[in-house]
Amino acid sequence: MERWQNRVAVVTGASSGIGAEVARKLVSAGVVVVALARRLERLEQLRRELPEERRSQLHIRQCDVTDVASVDAAFDAVQRELGGVDILLTMSLDTVQQVLQTNVMGVVHCSQRAFESMRQRHSAGHVVLINSIVGHYIFNPLPGSQQELNMYPATKHAVTALTELFRQEMREFKTQVKVTSISPGLVDTELVPLAYKRLPMLQAEDVANAILYVLATPPHVQVH
Ligand SMILES: NC(=O)c1ccc[n+]([C@@H]2O[C@H](COP(=O)([O-])OP(=O)(O)OC[C@H]3O[C@@H](n4cnc5c(N)ncnc54)[C@H](OP(=O)(O)O)[C@@H]3O)[C@@H](O)[C@H]2O)c1
Repeated sequence: MERWQNRVAVVTGASSGIGAEVARKLVSAGVVVVALARRLERLEQLRRELPEERRSQLHIRQCDVTDVASVDAAFDAVQRELGGVDILLTMSLDTVQQVLQTNVMGVVHCSQRAFESMRQRHSAGHVVLINSIVGHYIFNPLPGSQQELNMYPATKHAVTALTELFRQEMREFKTQVKVTSISPGLVDTELVPLAYKRLPMLQAEDVANAILYVLATPPHVQVH
């Protein structure tokens, strides 16, 4: 992770689950982290729980990724206060009503701003989109839990398509920006429906470790 020392990572959905865990790990790896989510008190708690000497590396900001003005305000602040974005991790996820806006449009809004910042500064940045196994195939749900999934697999299939489109765009613009999507199975976080809790699950730390692995790969390696 040496090349990311003091570089800037924006993590959306950092107030819980995988986002909070990866924000913690990036801070301990020496990265400056901008943690975005709607629940500011949860972000404040995340900062309080860091070792005191690391707290200044974590910048927190309330942001709703479904709201373009809110995303623009957050990325403008990052540009103004920290110089720009080198890593974007999109973790935000919402339930049925807002799922399309959050999982698809939220990813699009944030990625646009991150790519713009990376291109302007000729940063060999990295965008990591959190996908899911249901972004590749749809399994038979547990009895009675079909409605829990609802639009979720469709939004994650969109993330699969966006990952490849973004990769092609970054190549077309002759950038060194890497694009990766990570597709975990079930992870033990607040979002998991109760019915699924009895199945074997990954931990948030397992997914955070996978994210740190792809970030740490040398420039000629792209985990797609
Ligand atoms: N858990 C699993 O089984 C699993 C499996 C595969 C993939 N994933 C993916 O992993 C990612 C993280 O999920 P998780 O399990 O860690 O869920 P989580 O603990 O529920 O975290 C979701 C995060 O998204 C934030 N969020 C929701 N709507 C938002 C919005 N409009 N604007 C900004 N932030 C918003 C939430 O914060 P606020 O409410 O404070 O805004 C929260 O921090 C998601 O993309 C999910 O699809 C999870």
